[in-house]
Amino acid sequence: MGSLRGFYASMVGKKVVMGITGLIGIGFVVMHSLGNLLVFRGPAAINAYSHFLKSTGELLWGLRIVLIVAVILHVIAAVQLTTQSRAARPIAYAKQEHQVATVASRTMRWGGALLLVFIVLHILHFTTGTIRPAGAFSSEDVYANIVTSFRIWWVTLFYVVAMLSLGLHLFHGAWSSVRSIGARLPSPEPLHHRISLVVALLVWAAFTAVPIAVITGIVR
Ligand code: HEM
Repeated sequence: MGSLRGFYASMVGKKVVMGITGLIGIGFVVMHSLGNLLVFRGPAAINAYSHFLKSTGELLWGLRIVLIVAVILHVIAAVQLTTQSRAARPIAYAKQEHQVATVASRTMRWGGALLLVFIVLHILHFTTGTIRPAGAFSSEDVYANIVTSFRIWWVTLFYVVAMLSLGLHLFHGAWSSVRSIGARLPSPEPLHHRISLVVALLVWAAFTAVPIAVITGIVR
């Protein structure tokens, strides 16, 4: 236990935690974005999928707990890594040279914070129905919730912007999580870099397709 704590205290330990929890998040968004595509098969398909997930009871709660713990650990490790690296350089550079790495890590922090806000609003919107931009909400009819919500231009805009931020976060994050857990293969043209790009693009496209299809009337 003590050695585990000692490992976490190091920067490498925190990066490993960020990598593992990040990969859990990637697994979730891949499954979630594929599930959302059922909207193109009509109300029966996506509503049946939603009912099935809710009928699994303990399994669904088990997955929710894993996800919640992963998100909390991911955020804590990110905040601690930021403070640890700032403490390592108490006096800022007189002139900041924006290297590719610093631009990536800055967008990771801001993009990550935006995603956290998105996730909270999103659950209040589609899972609990606390926020009802379209007025009505039915936990039995996910299809209707999606269609009535994304007919509202600002709801669609909010989701489209959030998904851009998710795409960027996935691109930088998927690449560095593999590196952080030490699974990287040395290569001049890293394969995991290209895989991250493909995963980020596919997840971004699958998520973004739904609000765009509703607002353009393809899904009604
Ligand atoms: C355009 C993009 C998205 C759409 C249309 C969408 C749609 C939905 C819908 C309809 C539900 C409710 C499902 C049900 O009650 O059966 C839901 C739940 C959820 N979504 Fe999304 N989602 C999107 C993006 C995301 C993203 C990017 C994340 C996370 C990074 C996310 C995380 C969640 C979570 C955590 C739940 C709650 C699952 C549960 O515990 O029941 N969603 N989403």
